[in-house]
Amino acid sequence: MSPTDTPVPPVPANAGPPLVVAVDGTSGSGKSSTSRGVAQRLGLAYLDTGAQFRAITWWMLRRGVDVHDAAAVAGLAAEPRLVSGTDPSAPTIHVDGEDVSAPIRTPEVNSAVSPVSAVPEVRTRLLELQRAIVFETLAAGRGIVVEGRDIGSVVWPDAPVKVYLSADPAARASRRSREEGGTDVAATEQSLLARDAIDSGRATAPLVLADGAVAIDTTPYTLEEVVAQVVALARAVEAPA
Ligand code: DC
Repeated sequence: MSPTDTPVPPVPANAGPPLVVAVDGTSGSGKSSTSRGVAQRLGLAYLDTGAQFRAITWWMLRRGVDVHDAAAVAGLAAEPRLVSGTDPSAPTIHVDGEDVSAPIRTPEVNSAVSPVSAVPEVRTRLLELQRAIVFETLAAGRGIVVEGRDIGSVVWPDAPVKVYLSADPAARASRRSREEGGTDVAATEQSLLARDAIDSGRATAPLVLADGAVAIDTTPYTLEEVVAQVVALARAVEAPA
């Protein structure tokens, strides 16, 4: 069964308000800051699925696996043990007990993560983990903001709020380069565009505008303005006019 065909588990009737906010979009479009801001404003949990793909990639690189050898990556995809912390004010990611929050943001991981993410076995493994986290959060009576590339299309297609963030490539590159401590903006833009091309072109769960997603071009807005737009969408779902 392909990851895309895996059925979504049902939400139990006593799960409380099952608010899932799916935030998809291109690299550097402001997904993480927006998702964390929305989760903090609404008291929701937060799941960064990109960090999970990065963590598996980091583990493959440390093992010396050739990330362009899809069969090698697939064969090891089940091995690393990932734990994602879902507090939006301090999200964490551990692999086999090791905190990898910093090393998953290096240029080596940036350039290796797209080929690893294109391997179906990696996606299936993470899809199960992602759905389990959403399911457990909802079952505990809490909502969650989930950010990635395929959240509204594959991971949780029934999310009541779906947004797709994009931004002008130059704006994305300058934001990302600031976040990474002043890396070269032109090189950062090339790296973002290369990742976008692979993420959008892959056969399994490509980056797409999901059915029902609201597209927001964040270029002209401040972070607070984008957060406010998504919060308004969530409030409209919670209390329809
Ligand atoms: O959001 P990010 O830049 O941290 O994501 C890192 C990579 O992970 C990105 O190039 C694509 C991949 N990814 C994915 O394929 N599916 C997701 N749901 C999240 C991220």
